[in-house]
Amino acid sequence: MSSTLFLQSDIHDPYSTYKSMLEKHPVYWDETNKIWTIYSYEYCVEILKNKNAQIPVGNPKNEQKLNEYALKILDNLTRLSNGIQHEISKEIAMLMFSNMKSIDIREITSSLIKSDLVNYKIDWVNSVSKKLPIYVLLKSFGFEENDCEFISEKIESLVKIMLPQKTEEQVLFINRNSEKFYSLVEKHLSSLSFYNSLLIKISNQYNLSSKEIVPIVVSNFIGLCIQSYDAGRGILSNSLLQIIQHETFSNRTEIEKSVIETLRFDPPIHNTRRIATEDFYIGESLIKKGDSILIVLASANYDSEKFEDAMNFDIERINNNENLTFGIGGHMCLAKYFSIHLATEALWFLFQSNKSISLLENQIQYEPLINARLPKEIWISIQ
Ligand code: HEM
Repeated sequence: MSSTLFLQSDIHDPYSTYKSMLEKHPVYWDETNKIWTIYSYEYCVEILKNKNAQIPVGNPKNEQKLNEYALKILDNLTRLSNGIQHEISKEIAMLMFSNMKSIDIREITSSLIKSDLVNYKIDWVNSVSKKLPIYVLLKSFGFEENDCEFISEKIESLVKIMLPQKTEEQVLFINRNSEKFYSLVEKHLSSLSFYNSLLIKISNQYNLSSKEIVPIVVSNFIGLCIQSYDAGRGILSNSLLQIIQHETFSNRTEIEKSVIETLRFDPPIHNTRRIATEDFYIGESLIKKGDSILIVLASANYDSEKFEDAMNFDIERINNNENLTFGIGGHMCLAKYFSIHLATEALWFLFQSNKSISLLENQIQYEPLINARLPKEIWISIQ
């Protein structure tokens, strides 16, 4: 293999490629892209826990020409920060997360299905996967219906803010919508009862003024929307495909086990990146300060040293939950249980309230993305 970077839309089965790289080159220097690519479970964990492997800076000197609001959002995201900035923004994101109200996921799923179902057919991706996680998040924070609609409509283009490279058109859209997005979120969050105590807590802990904290709070709420949209869409879509194929929908527990096994077997997020801030060894390979690293989480999930009979979808394997799909270490996803719960509830609702769910197409097309494997459409029949 020469290039280890590819678009998921171009590859029918990335897992057999990962499997062969795991066997031959668990650590591989990709000369074409000048990037270390890490395939084995052990080494992926080692890098994710290594303090000298940091999140790369995405938009140095604002070369992408983002406007004031877009830049504020990007610069404050916990997902993309390191050091003390990461510590503060992660704490803020977690505090917000812990203030979510519990809401009825089944009810929202039901109304999304009802509003788009025509002749017993629906595109699960566009009607449910893209909308449900963001609606659940926003409703849990008490956003009004019209704000939910605005955010859910614009989020698809705003998520492009996470891309390391952006087209002019993507930047234009991000710039056009970021001020309204930012103001709307700021206005709503400041009306919530936990908001002031959050500002006081962070201010006392880190000796920061409210003026410094507010942009971190607002940006990281937008960050939660972004993560919900992209990865949330993937867990709902990929789980549905596996559940239909393996017919593992007889009760709620079976659905939950299938969601967890899908996260290992066909995860929505395939890789994440780091940059070495010091020299260090991985196995016998010397990673030099400044080197780029691609951590192939989806490949670690196929490592036979960790998962027995890894090429098989097996909801009863006892360590499926140890998949690396949510990362590990300081940057591990804070929404692991939220995401699994959301997908389980929605899919259990779908299978429990209908006699038969079947796929209307066999050739699933994927989005042209390097880091995520997200079906474009999944047409199903609901009877
Ligand atoms: C299946 C669904 C999801 C997957 C597979 C996923 C995956 C990940 C991964 C791999 C990371 C770590 C990235 C790294 O270390 O480089 C991460 C971080 C993060 N995720 Fe998720 N995520 C999911 C859903 C969500 C949702 C729904 C939210 C928010 C509501 C969320 C919020 C975050 C945040 C804030 C971080 C950054 C944590 C930090 O900076 O330390 N994720 N996620």
